[in-house]
Amino acid sequence: MSESETENRIPPKKARSRSRMSIDDKTNKTLKDLDVKTPEAIGELFAELSLALDSERQHLIGEGASDDHERAQKVKALRDRWLARKGGQVSLIDENWLKKAPKELKPTVGRAFNQLRQQSASVETEQLLQDVPIRGSATAHPETTKAEFGVGRPSVDITLPGYRRPLGSIHPVTRVMREIEDIFLGLGFSIESGPEVESVYYSFDALNIPESHPARDEWDTLYVNSETVLRPHTSPVQIRAMKKHGAPLYILCPGKAYRHDNPDSTHATMFHQVEGLAVDTDITFADLKGTLEYFAKKFFGDKIKTNFSPSFFPFTEPSGELVISCVFCGGEGCRVCKESGWVEVMGCGMVHPEVLRHGGIDPERYSGWAFGLGVERFAMMKYDINDIQLFHQGDVRFLEQF
Ligand code: DAH
Repeated sequence: MSESETENRIPPKKARSRSRMSIDDKTNKTLKDLDVKTPEAIGELFAELSLALDSERQHLIGEGASDDHERAQKVKALRDRWLARKGGQVSLIDENWLKKAPKELKPTVGRAFNQLRQQSASVETEQLLQDVPIRGSATAHPETTKAEFGVGRPSVDITLPGYRRPLGSIHPVTRVMREIEDIFLGLGFSIESGPEVESVYYSFDALNIPESHPARDEWDTLYVNSETVLRPHTSPVQIRAMKKHGAPLYILCPGKAYRHDNPDSTHATMFHQVEGLAVDTDITFADLKGTLEYFAKKFFGDKIKTNFSPSFFPFTEPSGELVISCVFCGGEGCRVCKESGWVEVMGCGMVHPEVLRHGGIDPERYSGWAFGLGVERFAMMKYDINDIQLFHQGDVRFLEQF
């Protein structure tokens, strides 16, 4: 018998024990523990999760609930099982599989993870509440009296319109953040987060902005006390991630930032940024240019042109701005681009050696590039929105357009 035949009959020990494990057992382990090493094995693993998600959902729909209360409870239980931030299957997969995946498998895991994350929207509470029926009284209506139907017959008036719950939609800021995440997850980046109430040290000192430096004033910072701020940018997460994971490191941090700005059509006290950071051996400015150009074309479309202009940030050297051809006039010149045909869309640069040092990474061995962008601004360009305040007012007439 050839070796491959033997393998077909008796699966290797690890694979056998893996197939007997429950989903929860698996998502609590890393891919390494599960002995999953190839794109094919990753595909199978995610296919299994996708089937499980669907069958648990179908099971609940088939089973139904006896009343509103029971339905709400069952729906919440299934939703939490998959989507709870702490301990939900999706977040376990993120923590244990994606974040801990070896570098060469990250893009594969990232893509599969994304698909599962999209599929898992089918167990969001609102969606499930619509799908799970209440047994027996599906269309019963309190006004339908026994007299109308004859005593003893079930009071169901099938001519009454059903009860329609308005479905919400995904907020444009969330939508754009997810789109940016998807592009970078596909490149092997992982998602990091950090606190919004942040120390002055992480917000400034560790980013090479000493107290005496005039650049501190550029971030109109909201101080909680002399050592604590509402973070004025997402850059502090760079330091936290470097300290936590070391190098090599490829991370993306979407999150809120706060500034002491007067609200107008382009400024808000709270807004969103996405921070990106890549640290590895032999990272050069060419990596930064190539990656950001790829990203800009994926996000805004292949037609846009990209360029870089010199800039200054204390935490990068050299620093630049990614410039793209104006999405409104296609580069001809209009009011938005001030007739120049170009718009600056994000700050970027090569990570300053001092910043790497603060993150506990040896700048003699490693180098890195980073960027920071404003999510509302990206959404405004993508959807042709002229006032940043619209994102934060919660007006349904605006939100339901997305
Ligand atoms: N933190 C900067 C800001 O809020 C944006 C930024 C610029 C972030 C350059 C970076 C970078 O990581 O390399 O204006």
